Amino acid sequence: MSGPILIFDSGVGGLSVVPPLRHHLPDAALVYACDNAMLPYGMRPDDWLVERILAVCEAAVAASGCCVLVVACNTASTLALDALRSHLTVPVVGTVPAIKPAAALSVSRHIGLLATSATVARPYTDRLIEAFARDCRVTRVAADPMVREAERFLAGEEPDQAVIDAVTAPLWEVDDLDTVVLGCTHFPLLGERIVAAAHRPVQLVDSGEAIARRTVQVANDMAPRTGLDQSLATAPDARLCRAMATFGFDEPRLLIVG
Ligand code: DGL
Repeated sequence: MSGPILIFDSGVGGLSVVPPLRHHLPDAALVYACDNAMLPYGMRPDDWLVERILAVCEAAVAASGCCVLVVACNTASTLALDALRSHLTVPVVGTVPAIKPAAALSVSRHIGLLATSATVARPYTDRLIEAFARDCRVTRVAADPMVREAERFLAGEEPDQAVIDAVTAPLWEVDDLDTVVLGCTHFPLLGERIVAAAHRPVQLVDSGEAIARRTVQVANDMAPRTGLDQSLATAPDARLCRAMATFGFDEPRLLIVG
């Protein structure tokens, strides 16, 4: 049976992977599911998070009848990809910080990692750096307050530049850092603001393109797109409605998590 592509995140961050997904798969139906009742994920304990991510993804997979699950969340992927893959019957595409492409791009060999406090500290992230950026200096910055700023932005409010300036400041204290990994899917939504905070040229690297290309390889039997794409949320409200509409999704329906 054919089904849509299911995209999952804690909040609206996963919407940053929707443009590359639609670019590579223009005819595929998408369903967006978020656990906004429990946002943000980045400061929650690992044990709790694994249980929650499994429960929400299981409910969303059942409700959507999807052919593939795209976990558009670094915080969830760096923790729960193995558990999700052994738990679910559909293929799972994960999102992990784009350390490898950033290391390939950096001329100065000094890169920054901007992510949630959970992601910057994960063993998975250590392994990525060890495997792909051994010859680089990596400055890791936990940027949890920017998750809220991205949520506010997509709800139609102006993000607070002072928050973005303050949170990203450790990246700009050193002159030679030339590349920043946006290791949280919320952050590409604030790309222009992050560049403004830098006050100098810097290249931002995210995982959106890589996720879309991987989804093309993994998804089979995709349902065709007809009209607006669907969305699901654990706490649907007017703010979320606005973000979903901006990205071509219908009003979110309540996702009941067992
Ligand atoms: N968008 C998520 C990520 O990629 C996490 C945001 C949150 O802390 O909930 O890490």
